[in-house]
Amino acid sequence: MPRVLVVDDEEIVRDVLSQMIEQTGDYEVDTAKNGIDALKYIKEKDYDVVFTDIMMPQLSGIELVQELKKTKPAIPVVMVTALNNLDTGVSAMREGASDYITKPFELDKIKNVLDRVINERNIMKSLSGNSGDSSSVKIINSELYRKLSEIHSLFSISLELESITDNREILKKLPELCSKLFKVDSVVFLIYEENMLHHYSSIGFPYKGGLKMKGSKFEELLKDSDYCLLDVGETSPLDNLPLRSQMLIVPVKIKDESLGFLCITNRVDGFNFKEDEIQLALTFIHKLSLRLENNTLYEITYNNLINTLKTLILTIEARDRYTKNHSERVTAVALEIAKELGCSEQERDAIRFGGYLHDIGKIGVRDTVLLKPGKLTKEEFEEIKQHPVIGDNIIQPLGSFPLERLLIRHHHERFDGTGYPDGLKGEEIPLIARILAVADTYDSMTSTRPYRKGLSHEIAIDEIKRCSGTQFDPEVAKAFFQTPTGKGGAQR
Ligand SMILES: [Fe+2]
Repeated sequence: MPRVLVVDDEEIVRDVLSQMIEQTGDYEVDTAKNGIDALKYIKEKDYDVVFTDIMMPQLSGIELVQELKKTKPAIPVVMVTALNNLDTGVSAMREGASDYITKPFELDKIKNVLDRVINERNIMKSLSGNSGDSSSVKIINSELYRKLSEIHSLFSISLELESITDNREILKKLPELCSKLFKVDSVVFLIYEENMLHHYSSIGFPYKGGLKMKGSKFEELLKDSDYCLLDVGETSPLDNLPLRSQMLIVPVKIKDESLGFLCITNRVDGFNFKEDEIQLALTFIHKLSLRLENNTLYEITYNNLINTLKTLILTIEARDRYTKNHSERVTAVALEIAKELGCSEQERDAIRFGGYLHDIGKIGVRDTVLLKPGKLTKEEFEEIKQHPVIGDNIIQPLGSFPLERLLIRHHHERFDGTGYPDGLKGEEIPLIARILAVADTYDSMTSTRPYRKGLSHEIAIDEIKRCSGTQFDPEVAKAFFQTPTGKGGAQR
């Protein structure tokens, strides 16, 4: 019967997991209370799978995996994590774990993982058992493991790349990703700018300066648009010293534009780069270039979209010279309040964009109503009241602005629930919309209209105080009074 070792410093977790594995009826289970004990047991007995916790004193789960990969590379290790967090699992897999499960445990999942890793282990065992030449099988097996681990690393690193939309962030992380993928100690990414190569990001490289392209190895590579592999003893183009370990230099491009070079060196195992590893590096860089290109295209499209919408707002504001730059001012005041309230970066981004667009729905309101100098009739007011919904409908097909849509739709809700369009009350109204309501009203009161001169700052403040708790969220109003504009210090 296959034997499983469960390693966890918490007795209850060890008991629950080992009982669940035993329940499957197919496995014998031992438990160890920490990584050090686990290593002792593994030395004494053969295990087919090890389940280990990640966070443990003395020897962490990751360190246990690293140790096992050196001493008993054939034992599959499944990580147990309390966090339902892909990152933790993926980083463990990058170190060589076969899979991971999350707490609370589910019998089905445990069984699936066990069946899969045991199957893989059996295939490996049968491969080595069927051959007469055990040393050649050993080599094949270790090659196969290396390949599997490369594919695993490439997959998890690709996942990590997919989740980053900012190119600068990707390029900052690039050396770290490469060092994991190629198991090397030193990686530097140099960015190409005005005939110079500047250090952009690195791991294990003390050198942080710039390099002249002219006459350098990099100039040749730029011309040939190819990678190069420098051998031990050749001169490093980074510091002109003889290399103590092979260095792989790969150009990084976006479309056909050269972005810079990635220099990868100091393999942890001290061996040279193999041909398939070089191919892996080129595949990785190709994938990376596509990602950078996609992000650039997305950024261009996004910026075009924002500019189109901003132009639309300017068109609306141009219809009424008295509301000129209203959206811009409202956004600035709303951002002051958001800062005072300690809003998240995501909320502030939504205000930055959504604040600008909050009245975009006015494009659907007739000029005779929108620009009417006198008092509006009931019907006319009903028409004006449609603008938050029209605005929401304009943004909806764009798909990716959920917070901005909430701000646009709800900026005329009132804290006491008597606002429009949905009559939301108190904290049902999204915070960013409650913030915008105060900023919007303040700017409307202090701006000059065809039928009245703008009110003074003091009167506007008194009015917001009076309506705090009815029209406005009192906490937001209080925060507004603490802002530069609320204190009367801002230039209007
Ligand atoms: Fe509005």
